[in-house]
Amino acid sequence: MWGRVARGLTSVADGRLLDPFVEQLGRPSGVLGHLVGAVLVESNTDLTRAVVDGLRLRDGERVLDIGCGPGQGITAAFDAADVIVHAVDPSPAMLRRVRLANRRALRRLRLHLHPATLDELELVVPLQAAWAVNVVYFLDDRVASLSHLHELMAPGGRVALGYRDADHIVDDEVGRRFRELHRPATVAELEADLRAAGFTGVLTVEHDEARRITIARRPAEDRPDRSARTDREAARPPDLTSL
Ligand SMILES: C[S@@+](CC[C@H](N)C(=O)[O-])C[C@H]1O[C@@H](n2cnc3c(N)ncnc32)[C@H](O)[C@@H]1O
Repeated sequence: MWGRVARGLTSVADGRLLDPFVEQLGRPSGVLGHLVGAVLVESNTDLTRAVVDGLRLRDGERVLDIGCGPGQGITAAFDAADVIVHAVDPSPAMLRRVRLANRRALRRLRLHLHPATLDELELVVPLQAAWAVNVVYFLDDRVASLSHLHELMAPGGRVALGYRDADHIVDDEVGRRFRELHRPATVAELEADLRAAGFTGVLTVEHDEARRITIARRPAEDRPDRSARTDREAARPPDLTSL
């Protein structure tokens, strides 16, 4: 979808808007940032819902939306359970949107917004679940950022990452600029990065032809490592409570 919009924009602007648009996906800002926010809602809500559903959130849990963007993950989390949501995003434009749509949750301290990158986030109380949808491409050093996330998680804490597999990024002008400006990952690379960061139970499911959901958890000290799963287990929809 964002590809279609970007192509539409470039056709009316002689290509001058392509770079700013693809760049904006990593840090939406200003007037174009508002347009990007609308595109993100349109194109990412289904994947976000699948990611949050897979985490099987439970009442009372403290959870984190990494790179929350316009806030579809926050809405999905509140729909799923009575959770306390932390959302981190360095984009003031995206956080403004989230703030306007979630005044009540903010007032009741069910939602906490952090204007920062994942690497900069510090939390006093550990998290039971965290997710990031279409964010992994913007992490400068994925293993370092995922290691930091590992530190923020409680033992047994579940993580889910939704993203477009680098092997399925369309080979057109938008796709090529995206690869030049950002850092898309293949499933194998992301799984390896999660393990290098200390996560176990790493497995990936297909959301559609191009998009994947990779899940993992911080090991609970007293539980065996069950990261070696059979293909049949891995083919099932994600249910992180079984990890
Ligand atoms: C393509 S948007 C995705 C937003 C939303 N998750 C969605 O699926 O629509 C990427 C978001 O990640 C944020 N972001 C970029 N780098 C980040 C980082 N290092 N830590 C946290 N968020 C980041 C951007 O500001 C942007 O809002």
